[in-house]
Amino acid sequence: MSKFSDTLEAFRKKSGYSKKELANLAGIAESYVSHLTLGSRENPSPETIAKLASALKLNDEEKKSLFEAAELPYPPPSMPAIPSTSFLSISGDKPEEKTIKEDDWDDVPNLQAFFGREEELKELKHWILEDHCQLLAVSGSGGIGKTMLTIKLARDINGEFDHVFWRSLKDAPSLEHLLEDCLSLLSHHKPLDPHWSVEERIHRLLDYMKKYQCLLILDNMEAILREKEHVGEYLVGYEAYGNLFDEIGKVSHQSCLILTTREIPEEIALRQGKSAAIRVYPLSGLKPEDGLRILEDKALAWMTQSEDAKALIDLYSGNPLALELAAVFIRDALAGNISTFLVSSATIFVSIQGVLEQQFERLSTLEQQIMYWLAIEREAVTPTALQQDFPSPPDLLKMGIALQSLRRRSLIEIREQEKAYSLQAVIQAHVTRRLIDQVVSELKSASFKLMESHALLKAHTRDYLHEAQRRQFLAPA
Ligand SMILES: Nc1ncnc2c1ncn2[C@@H]1O[C@H](COP(=O)(O)OP(=O)(O)OP(=O)(O)O)[C@@H](O)[C@H]1O
Ligand SMILES: [Mg+2]
Repeated sequence: MSKFSDTLEAFRKKSGYSKKELANLAGIAESYVSHLTLGSRENPSPETIAKLASALKLNDEEKKSLFEAAELPYPPPSMPAIPSTSFLSISGDKPEEKTIKEDDWDDVPNLQAFFGREEELKELKHWILEDHCQLLAVSGSGGIGKTMLTIKLARDINGEFDHVFWRSLKDAPSLEHLLEDCLSLLSHHKPLDPHWSVEERIHRLLDYMKKYQCLLILDNMEAILREKEHVGEYLVGYEAYGNLFDEIGKVSHQSCLILTTREIPEEIALRQGKSAAIRVYPLSGLKPEDGLRILEDKALAWMTQSEDAKALIDLYSGNPLALELAAVFIRDALAGNISTFLVSSATIFVSIQGVLEQQFERLSTLEQQIMYWLAIEREAVTPTALQQDFPSPPDLLKMGIALQSLRRRSLIEIREQEKAYSLQAVIQAHVTRRLIDQVVSELKSASFKLMESHALLKAHTRDYLHEAQRRQFLAPA
């Protein structure tokens, strides 16, 4: 919870309005009001706060405290006229005049230590700001640094855009849902007509992309693509994403959509070109000197002095995630001896999967169970929520120690604000595969250990997460 969400909730409760009533009165989408009261969206615009304040009939003193909770001045410098409540319509009103910059970064990961990538950033900025490339796919293998690079890029050029919208497709949200969130931002939170088809929503989005300079980023795009022999095809039910990408590449506008992905969908592969509106940027590993900085940052500085350190970077072709994991392993398990690692790497650590498997084998039973639960949960969870997943919950202190240890091993990530934990994408994929293998072998041998302790579907999760759990775990198992 943030100060703003606390203050807003206090006023809402005092008014006696439900979140839905407040949303209707303020002319703001209900989902957005819900996000604001839960603290899962921040930085509402002054315009949004003014709408909320007037719906809640706050007096001047109260209004001031609501603005201050959002760290905004009161009265706001130049407040645009607040439009009356109405649904967005396609044919009727044009998008509102440009007012106040508002972005939606959702649960973008923290950009911690970031090394190198100067050339990549320079070229990508040129593509977007000078060449006005409309659709850009940053592609590359797991852990190569697509997400981090894109965060840096988007943060750097943020000021050039009226709106920035970031979403991860990791849990394959439906396109309807995604467009609802995006249109909510671009329309200053006007409620969306629930009867609109996906095509209508796409058209409306394109209207905004023509009118405003929007930077849209969809991370982990491969999550909506099929596996194995169906390279570049969309999951069943997700084909409309293909239409969206197609339109964004084809129709002329002043915005840009960036995708990060391990795989390129077919229509992008076919239509991309060096000077086309659709481009693909294949990302490779870090330069050796920047790889060294990762070793330095994660492990011990003296590791980086040797020829072995360079050989290690070579072995992983500068893949930053692999380097991080190997560095921590060498530091903790091999007393910093890289050459021992390199000798064995020829047989054991040939791939990043090898590193992950080695890491996993070294975990305590509780740590392994946490890893499995985080893979099933699929979104960031707090220690208390995680504790409730266990049939016989471990005490919070033990859980805290295990979580801290997993963090140190670079296996889990924390979202500082909510103190919620999740798995990095490559690790999520690896643990999922491991869990499925284990369940299949338990089914074959009829000895149910993991199956007794881990429900592969969780009853209370949101619909699209439920679907992601079903697809990832039950279908293959
Ligand atoms: N330029 C960089 N400097 C320092 N560390 C980096 C850099 N790029 C990536 N990393 C590290 O490598 C990890 C993996 O990077 P990132 O999440 O960007 O990979 P990705 O290509 O998006 O992987 P995935 O396909 O799994 O989504 C990050 O968590 C970060 O710790
Ligand atoms: Mg990523």
